[in-house]
Amino acid sequence: MKQWYRIEGGKPLEGAVTISGAKNAAVAIIPASILTGECCVLENIPCIEDVHTLLEILKRIGGAVSYTMGERLRLDSSGVNSCSITFDMVSTLRASYYLLGALLGRYGHAELSLPGGCVIGQRPIDQHIKGMRALGAHVVVEDGLVKARADNGLVGSEVYFDVVSVGATINVMMAATMAAGQTTLVNAAKEPHVVDVANFLNMMGARVKGAGTDMIRITGVSKLHGCDYAIIPDQIEAGTYMVAAAATGGNVVIKNIIPTHLEAISAKLMESGAAVVEGDDGREFFMQVTGGGRPRAINVKTLPYPGFPTDLQQPMMAHLVKAHGNSFIMENIFEERFNHVAELVRMGALIDLNGRTAMVQGVERLTGAPLFASDLRAGAALVVAALAAKGTSTVHNIELIDRGYEHLEQKLRALGANITRHVE
Ligand code: EPZ
Repeated sequence: MKQWYRIEGGKPLEGAVTISGAKNAAVAIIPASILTGECCVLENIPCIEDVHTLLEILKRIGGAVSYTMGERLRLDSSGVNSCSITFDMVSTLRASYYLLGALLGRYGHAELSLPGGCVIGQRPIDQHIKGMRALGAHVVVEDGLVKARADNGLVGSEVYFDVVSVGATINVMMAATMAAGQTTLVNAAKEPHVVDVANFLNMMGARVKGAGTDMIRITGVSKLHGCDYAIIPDQIEAGTYMVAAAATGGNVVIKNIIPTHLEAISAKLMESGAAVVEGDDGREFFMQVTGGGRPRAINVKTLPYPGFPTDLQQPMMAHLVKAHGNSFIMENIFEERFNHVAELVRMGALIDLNGRTAMVQGVERLTGAPLFASDLRAGAALVVAALAAKGTSTVHNIELIDRGYEHLEQKLRALGANITRHVE
C-alpha cells in the first residue's frame, strides 16, 4: 500500500509540540535488554516503524513484548532462544547491528544478516567487527552474514576506533558489559544516545564509565538484572521541528527536550537569523524558535557530536534554500547524503553539488511539486521544504519517514500545517 503526504505550504507553524523518545537510543536499548535474562520496562519509547521492526525481531527470537500502563514497554528476554537474525528480519533496519553485540555479550555467539537501513553512503561495519575481535570473538563475514563466536567467553581489551562511530561504540560497549575484566574504548562517539545506552546498561548493573567522552571504560560483570528506564527525548526530532519553525517563519515552542543536545542546531539557526530562546517552565525545559523573513546564508559542516549532526543536514538545507546569498553545506559523515537535492531543485532551489559540499544559492521562494523521499531525513527535509513552499506538494515514500518520526502529521497539524496522509 502506497502512502503519501499532501502538503499545502506557505503557512507559518504556530504553537507547541512535544518531542518523543529518541529513536537512535530506543533502537539500541531494545537489543541491549537482551543482555539480561530479566524484564525491563521502558518509558518514552517512540511509536515509530524502526521500533516496531525491532520488537518483531525480538519476538521472533523468543522474547516477549507487552505494553503496561499505556506507553510503558515491557521487554522480557528470558525466553530468547535463537542467536540467528535472518535477512528478512533486518532488510530495512540499520540498527539491527546492535543484536550482534547483545547476543554475543549474552550467549557468546551470534549470526546476523548484514543490516539494511537508509541509503546515504557506504556504511561499513568494520569497526564493529574490529571491536568484537578485540574482545576475543572469532568473526567472519560469509554468505551475507556476520558470524561471531566467543566459545570461551569475551575478554576485556583496549579498542581503538579508526573512525568515530556511534554504532560501533554502542555495539562494542554492549558486548563488553559481560566480558571478563576491563575494556577501554578509545576514540568513542559522544552522541547523547551513546550516553543514554550507557545509563541503561548501568541501570541493569553494568559498570560503564566515561560515556559522553571519547574514552569509555567498562568493567565486565557476570550478570545483569532487569530495570525500569526512561529514554531521552529525540535530539533530531526536536531539531527538525526547530528548523521547520524557522523555515516557515513560524513561532513554535518545542517541549520535552534536553537543551544541551540542541546547542549546535540553535547556534546555526540563530546565525541564519531565527530567534531561539531556551526556557524552563519549572517542570521541563523548552525551546522557542521564531523565524523571520528570508534567512541569512550560512555555512554548515556536519561533524560527530557536539558538532552539527548529519541527521539534520538535509532539513537544514531545506531551510537555507530560501536564504539571502550562498550557503555552503559540507557533509563529513555520509558521503552520499544528498539525495534530497534533486527534489529541492524541482521546487525551484538552486543547488550545486561538488563532492561532499553543496553550494546553495538562495532563492526568494520555493513552489510545490511532487517529491520523493529517498531516506528518512531526506523525507523530513522534503516535508520542511513543502511546508515553506508556495502551493501544493505531495511527498511520496513516507514509509521512510514513519521509520523515525512519531505522529509527524498529527504534530504538524497541531501547529497549523495543512498536511494530510493519503493511502492508495
Ligand atoms: C548512527 O548511524 C545513526 N543510526 C544515524 O542515524 C546517524 O546518522 C549516524 O549514527 C551518525 O550520527 C543509528 O543510531 C541507528 P556511524 P551509524 O557508525 O551508527 C563510518 C538517522 O537518520 N563507519 O556513527 O551507522 C561511516 O561510514 C540515522 O537517524 C565506518 O567506517 O553511523 C560514517 O562515515 C541515519 N566503519 C561514520 O563512520 C564502521 O564500522 C559514522 O557512522 C562504522 C562506521
